Amino acid sequence: MLGNFKYHNPTKLYFGKDALENLRDELKNYGKNVLFVYGGGSIKRTGLFDKIMAILNEAGKNVSFDDGVMPNPTIEKLYEGIDRAKKAKADFILAVGGGSVIDYAKGLSVSINLKDEDPWQKYYINFEEAIDDIVPVGCVLTMAGTGSEMNGGSVISNHDVKIKNGKVFDERVFPKFAILNPELTYTVPRYQMVAGVFDIMSHIMEQYFSGDDDNTSDYIMEGLMRSLIHSSKIAVKNPTDYEARSNIMWTATWALNTLVAKGKSQDWEVHMIGQAIGAVTNATHGMTLSSVSIPYYKHIMPYGLLKFRRFAEVVWNVEPYRFNNDTRQIAEEGLRRMSDWMKEIGLVMNISELGVNESNIDDVIKATFLLDDGYKQLTEDELRAILVASM
Ligand code: NZQ
Ligand code: ZN
Repeated sequence: MLGNFKYHNPTKLYFGKDALENLRDELKNYGKNVLFVYGGGSIKRTGLFDKIMAILNEAGKNVSFDDGVMPNPTIEKLYEGIDRAKKAKADFILAVGGGSVIDYAKGLSVSINLKDEDPWQKYYINFEEAIDDIVPVGCVLTMAGTGSEMNGGSVISNHDVKIKNGKVFDERVFPKFAILNPELTYTVPRYQMVAGVFDIMSHIMEQYFSGDDDNTSDYIMEGLMRSLIHSSKIAVKNPTDYEARSNIMWTATWALNTLVAKGKSQDWEVHMIGQAIGAVTNATHGMTLSSVSIPYYKHIMPYGLLKFRRFAEVVWNVEPYRFNNDTRQIAEEGLRRMSDWMKEIGLVMNISELGVNESNIDDVIKATFLLDDGYKQLTEDELRAILVASM
């Protein structure tokens, strides 16, 4: 293990079919004025809204609402939410939904008590630390993917300036508790479900493909990826397979709750490109990642060839003898099998489908941060070549 690190994850997590029962007791630990934050209405259609209201009423809470949090939440919505939260004198935020709702709730939690500063500039442009006066967040997760339920990430989009940036807040901003019932994910539309699956895969790969030391984190990630690939194939055929959905949900949490990042320099370039595509097109997050991944990994493979060989053998069961024990061929076969799996589960494989074309490719390039902790720091020309190959 390289480097010096701290591992501290303060989120208390409840998992399983009965997980929601724990909300009752958890609510006792927080204030009376609850701001109930949710998205576009899926929780009303599934009946989850009513179940949660019953628990909040039973607990005697004053409930106000901040609804309509959109996928890829915007800064305008955050400004509106800050007003609502202030009017409601919210002392606790209950976020019910996917990554967008939880990310947004974290953004709110550190902005409600800001004095004269603009949250966009402070957190999402300058990446400053959160103020002390944070309104605590608890969450009920309805879709697996981002890992937001157990981390400090908060991604906000600003369409005026075509920027989608993520601030990773410290442990004070992690949800205080997270409730995960895999059954709640049964109703996630297939497109969103597979996008979530690839988001998980990408989180793992972007930590895995860095460094050349022998690192426990890599072995954990290999297990997570094997489980994810296996369960995703089952879940696309049978969305109500509890075993598969529960494994996907748990893998999502572990993919990005900071554990497997320990001792790793980490790449994250696919997320930088994906966020830029998201800023320009507002496309679904996981699909922005899947659309560029194969060209990206083909491009960086020569710079981390041994790791790509290991990935092929351990994660994709590539048999070296079938490829004359040739490292490059083995590594390439790994990416080929990954590409086959991506097509099998129905992922978007090119950026044109998401709305990137000749007219806005420069906007994507402009919005992409080029990071240098993976196997290869891209130049702008290389980025352009990858995007063109992704068309
Ligand atoms: O809004 P509603 O009506 O609830 O519908 C949502 C939304 O349309 C729907 N949905 C969620 N659960 C459902 C459901 N529909 C039926 N049944 C259910 N049980 O799914 C749609 C997508 O939801 P969203 O929350 O946007 O998806 P996801 O969880 O993928 O979150 C994406 C956001 O998270 C950010 C992304 O950039 C994006 O903005 N990320 C956050 C990260 C973090 N906190 O660490 C890291 C990630 O890399 C990612 O960047
Ligand atoms: Zn992601």
